Amino acid sequence: MNSYLIRPLQFEDSPSSAEIQVETWHDTYTSLMPERNLASMTLEIMVPRWQKIIQENKRNLLLLGAFEGTQLLGVAAGGEPREINGYDAELWSMNIPLKNQRRGLGRLLFNQTVKELSKQGYKSMYLYCIDGNRGALDFYHAMGAVVTNHLVERDGYSELLVIWDNLKHSSI
Ligand SMILES: CC(C)(COP(=O)(O)OP(=O)(O)OC[C@H]1O[C@@H](n2cnc3c(N)ncnc32)[C@H](O)[C@@H]1OP(=O)(O)O)[C@@H](O)C(=O)NCCC(=O)NCCS
Repeated sequence: MNSYLIRPLQFEDSPSSAEIQVETWHDTYTSLMPERNLASMTLEIMVPRWQKIIQENKRNLLLLGAFEGTQLLGVAAGGEPREINGYDAELWSMNIPLKNQRRGLGRLLFNQTVKELSKQGYKSMYLYCIDGNRGALDFYHAMGAVVTNHLVERDGYSELLVIWDNLKHSSI
């Protein structure tokens, strides 16, 4: 049986965090958003961005990685919300490349994120998920979310609002 470790990302994890995000975006989002939105998803751009995210972490986000040994397999980020909409916390992102999906990593990352955010006093949470990202919507539903029909238009694609009114009722 695989044993995975969930731990906060360190500065040294920046290159592998960038690799995870770039790979995930290209294998999952290519069919869901215009090609131009993926243009900045390169290692040249994302490695320095992840270095900045982890080192500065201006929003004090919870940045977690799922590891198998020393290998990073997936990342999640959550915490202070980007918008005021009545929900305490935002799940900013979850990125697990296609080759590592459906191995339980998302559940582990999600549960640890919710546990830590609850400890910090967050009671509810939201995120936006691309309409048509069926796998992710099914995953969040399995994690106790309500997938609303509130649709927000972005540049070339649209996103659905996904909510947890009470984090105590999420999957953990
Ligand atoms: C969405 C994501 C985080 C889920 O992580 P994961 O590791 O693949 O999911 P898990 O293996 O932990 O799945 C847990 C449960 O969620 C549900 N689920 C997960 N993926 C699913 C899918 N593609 N279809 C249907 N149900 C799914 C199942 O109930 C699953 O339990 P089971 O495997 O026992 O049936 C991951 O697939 C991912 O990063 N996708 C690409 C990027 C993305 O879309 N991120 C979300 C942006 S909003």
